[in-house]
Amino acid sequence: MNSIAAVANPNIALIKYWGKRDEVLHLPMTTSLSLTLREFPTTTTVEPRPELTADRVTLAGAPASEAFTGRVARFLDLVRAGSGDRRYAMVDTANTVPTGAGLASSAAGFAALALAAATAYGLDLDPRALSRLARRGSGSAARSVFGGFVVWWRGEGVGAAGDLSSFAEPIDVPPMDAALVVALVDTREKAVPSREAMRRTVSTSPFYPPWVAESARHLDRMRAALRAGDLATVGEIAEANALGMHATMLGARPAVRYLAAGTLAVLDRVQELRAAGIGAWATMDAGPNVKVLCDSRDSAAVAAAVAEVVGAAERIVIATSGPGAVICGNGHR
Ligand code: PMV
Repeated sequence: MNSIAAVANPNIALIKYWGKRDEVLHLPMTTSLSLTLREFPTTTTVEPRPELTADRVTLAGAPASEAFTGRVARFLDLVRAGSGDRRYAMVDTANTVPTGAGLASSAAGFAALALAAATAYGLDLDPRALSRLARRGSGSAARSVFGGFVVWWRGEGVGAAGDLSSFAEPIDVPPMDAALVVALVDTREKAVPSREAMRRTVSTSPFYPPWVAESARHLDRMRAALRAGDLATVGEIAEANALGMHATMLGARPAVRYLAAGTLAVLDRVQELRAAGIGAWATMDAGPNVKVLCDSRDSAAVAAAVAEVVGAAERIVIATSGPGAVICGNGHR
């Protein structure tokens, strides 16, 4: 029997994905742009077996929750439909990042699952098609298929047209010596899942449409800044885009607030760093943790400054640019 293992890394969006125009196909309202990290890889193994009567899902060897198993099974249904191979599979996924705490564990997880499952079931997908498949697991997973700076196009239309046109691809820019200092303010699982929070924001927040319009302008300006190697402009736009995304959530009813007291303390410290002449810009996802973008040469100073606020050096990780998803094991038993 053939088991396939794939590894993928999280990505952190500098221009966020927030809001879907199609909940089933995971078609986003906006185009997003991210940096794939070298840190926190997820390894996922898929082994289709003829004797199974349902998919069996484990998290680092321990049985997964019913909800997570269902999500993986629905994803594998897509792969089975594409390949014509109806076998159920044993799936194991091992994260090195806290699950569900706004640190993109689902992005790395579904990118690794997409690659391992496509390979195990014999689907011959080019990278663009693989990113579209990963998107069906978790939108942001489309971007973790690739390394470095990545854009995920919103695409146009709904249904098949939307599905075909909404894919991720790497951005060809001169290498930039950037780091993301990750401050783990709180690693507990978030109270409101991003799916529900997005839905609520899109349907009730008066601040959502202006953010969508602004995000398109952010994208153009950030791509130009990346081409020019201008980290300060990239950072300023990233921070504005993230704060804007959180503002849309605060305007939702009921409001969604992921930012915690510890988050704001880190934001204050980032502002102090800038006042002291160190280029540092913050971004936050669906959780209270903060990722601080800076030049790699400043990352130790930024990490030390932020560690004072979050209270412990082990709550800080200096992350850098990393590779896309790859197959890491192919075992026959
Ligand atoms: O991929 P999801 O459905 O978990 O959405 C995550 C969205 C954010 O992390 C908040 C932003 C982003 O673009 O990654």
